[in-house]
This record gives sequence, C-alpha cells and structure tokens, in this order.
Amino acid sequence: MENPFKFGTVVNGKYFTDRKKEQLFLTQILNSPNHAILISPRRFGKSSLVAQTLGESHRESISINMQAITSMDNLAETILKRALAKHPLQKIGHYLANFRIVPTVSVNQISGQPEFSFHAGTDHQIMLEDAFSVLEQLGKKERIIVIFDEFQEILKINPSLDRILRSIMQEQQNINYILMGSQEDMMKNIFLRKKSPFYHFGTLIHLDRIPRSDFKNYLTERLDEICPRASAEELSDEILQFTTCHPYYTQQLAFQVWYQMQSGTAAKQAVSEAIEQIVIMHDFDYSRLWDAMNLTNKAVLIKLAMLQTDFEIASVNQPTSTVFSSLKRLIHSGIVIKDKHYELDDPFFCLWIQQHFL
Ligand SMILES: Nc1ncnc2c1ncn2[C@@H]1O[C@H](COP(=O)(O)OP(=O)(O)OP(=O)(O)O)[C@@H](O)[C@H]1O
Ligand SMILES: [Mg+2]
Repeated sequence: MENPFKFGTVVNGKYFTDRKKEQLFLTQILNSPNHAILISPRRFGKSSLVAQTLGESHRESISINMQAITSMDNLAETILKRALAKHPLQKIGHYLANFRIVPTVSVNQISGQPEFSFHAGTDHQIMLEDAFSVLEQLGKKERIIVIFDEFQEILKINPSLDRILRSIMQEQQNINYILMGSQEDMMKNIFLRKKSPFYHFGTLIHLDRIPRSDFKNYLTERLDEICPRASAEELSDEILQFTTCHPYYTQQLAFQVWYQMQSGTAAKQAVSEAIEQIVIMHDFDYSRLWDAMNLTNKAVLIKLAMLQTDFEIASVNQPTSTVFSSLKRLIHSGIVIKDKHYELDDPFFCLWIQQHFL
C-alpha cells in the first residue's frame, strides 16, 4: 500500500488539507487587480497554498525564486527564460524586437534550451523594464500571475532593486503578483515600513500552522487504512502533540509512523519509534549544525529545548542584549520561530538537544 503522506516538496490535491480561508482570500485577490504578500516561517506551506490555488484557477503563471537570482541582469534573463518556457520563441522574439537593448539568444549546450544574456554594462533599469514588459504583454488577454518566492532576497541582490522593481511594477495593469517570503522580519521591513518603496504594495496573508481538528481528520482518514479507527485517532493525536501542527514535520512524522506500522510495529509504540528513527536519521546533520553554533546560541537553544513554551529571555544566564541578538540570528536562519512565543522550529532537533544536553 502506498504511503499517503508527503513532505519536502510542494503538496496539492490529495496531499493538501485545510487552508480554505486563505485559499478563498488569495483567489479573491487574484480575481481583482491586486497583489498578495504571503509570509510564513519555512515549510509552513506557502508554495503548496499557491500551487493548490493556481491549480484550481487555470490562469497562466510564472514563478521565480529570488534565492536563485545572482544579479539584476540574471533576474531580467530569468524572466525571459521563464516566458520562453511557456511560449514559442516566435512570440517572445516579437516582444524582443521592441527592446531598447536586445539581448543575445543562445542555446544552452547541456539543457538544449534557449537562453538570454544582456551585454555587460547594459543599464540595469532599462534591462529590467524591458524584461518585465514581456510579462505585461503576456497578460494582455487575461491577467497573468507572477510569483516571486523568497522575495526578501531582492535587497541582497542589489540595495536599489526594491526601488527599481516598485517603479516598474506599479505601472503594470495585466499582472497579479504573489510575493512570498519566509524571513518574516525582512518581509515586514519591505511591505510594512512606511519609507520602503513596497509599503502596502499588496494584501498581506500570514500563514499559520494547520488547525488541529482539520489536521487530525486528515491524518486519521489515512491511518484508518492500516489500523482500527480508534487507534488511528490516537496515533493522530500523538503525532500532532509532538509536531504542534507544523505542516512539514507532521507529514514527515506521519510518513514514518505509517512505515513503522507497515513494518510490524504495534500502534502503541509506532509514534515513539518513528520519532526515534527520525532523530537517528538526522543525528549527523544535527551534530554538524550544533558544532557550528556559538556558545550563546547553544545556551539559548538548550533553554528553549528545556523550557519550550515557558522560555523567557531572562532564563538564559547572559546579558539580555546578547540573548536577544542570538535569538534574532536563530530566527533569521529558521532554527527558531517566534509565533506566540519563541520556540524551536524542528521538534526532532528539540528532542535531539534534550537527549544530548539535559
Ligand atoms: N495544506 C497542507 N496540507 C498538508 N500538508 C502541507 C500543507 N502545506 C504544507 N504541507 C506540508 O509542508 C511541507 C512544506 O510545504 P511548502 O513547501 O509548501 O512550504 P513553504 O512555506 O513553501 O516552504 P519553504 O519556506 O521551504 O519554501 C509540504 O511538503 C507538506 O508536507
Ligand atoms: Mg516554498
């Protein structure tokens, strides 16, 4: 029997649950001439929500991950490449004819796909204006949806890229933008700071964990296939108790529980064995991550693992400002998340720390 849980890649269709409110809201934004800003910690389900919503909308979309972009030229080239992946060269070539500086088209020797490159020294603003004008043209008949993932990276690509992009994007009529990001502080800085060019550019959607009752139904329905209903419900409760409804870790643990049960583990031990197995599988990564931490980070993480929801900055025996900067760094790297309180993102890493240092 196929394991019905999926983690690590975008999920939609039968692997997707809940997010009804967010999906409806996102759909309404996309059905109007507005833009959406989607923020959540890593692996909370931004890409999955967008994939599920787009799958039902049947609109054309183009998606670019800003983390993979190395420069402004590269952004312009990538936009053209993505447009070409969906439309014939003839059509895109027609738009290129109007470019003020026409890029060179060549064929990538490895992928066999056409690629664009602008000549060194080309004015960045002109280059980006021209590339974005292709997206605007593609949305002429029906508004196109353009998704920029990890949008906060624009500031690392070039400090003036926010100003340039805003000046281009605000003039466009045929595009709905979805701007996503997992660095909450940076995303808020871009969209909520009055002086930022992107101040109030779109409607903010903040993605939370999946509500417990819905996630429980999702897990129970699937675990039901390999054990009696009452056991499936108990297993679901145990899984969610450990993962606190984090979408990724819940699917990861449920996958392992299913596997344990299929391998003959009794329902009573299935969750604890699955947790143990996952911690063992990640032992090497966790050790390496730990070794790279400075002493304050380690002290903060140990307190977090020990006190969990009761963690307070004062509980770490170090100056408040030092602990605060450490938390900031840990949040920035996605190891800690701040929801209602500070907590470790990964419950398996939390357990690993408990096993090693408490
Ligand atoms: N609505 C959902 N229903 C069930 N599982 C989900 C849902 N959303 C996310 N997940 C689980 O979480 C994992 C991560 O989801 P996704 O990649 O969409 O998150 P993300 O926020 O885009 O992550 P990243 O920050 O890494 O880009 C999925 O592989 C899946 O296991
Ligand atoms: Mg994603």
